[in-house]
Amino acid sequence: MPTVRVTRKVHFSAGHRLARPGLSDEENRELYGACSNPAGHGHNYDLEVTVRGEVDPDTGYVIDLKRVKELVHRAVVDDVDHANLNVDVEWMEGVIPTAENLVVRIWDRLEGNLDGAELVSLKLWETERNMVEYRGE
Ligand code: NI
Repeated sequence: MPTVRVTRKVHFSAGHRLARPGLSDEENRELYGACSNPAGHGHNYDLEVTVRGEVDPDTGYVIDLKRVKELVHRAVVDDVDHANLNVDVEWMEGVIPTAENLVVRIWDRLEGNLDGAELVSLKLWETERNMVEYRGE
């Protein structure tokens, strides 16, 4: 059976502030620039979820991408959309809400939760130019 990777893209908007606990506002500004503004700021995130599997000979699908969308919304998007990542999202507690930390936490939410499909890659676009990728390694 051929193994194919299929990708669903989902979108959410969220706010955050990058600041290391224990540093002053000035030190955080040095480290994170405008991303450390005390009032925070927002991003329109795109998340590409890629799973791999055999093509089901009956359906012709690896997995119905509508199903992937539902599962990603339930596990991730419903929690983060229009939320403040510093305070509103339980599974982001204890980490600085960079795209890197966010994508790793999202992986933990999705792995093993995709109807048996194998999660192989997450790409999180924070801006049109900045993307982080995590493959669970
Ligand atoms: Ni930001």
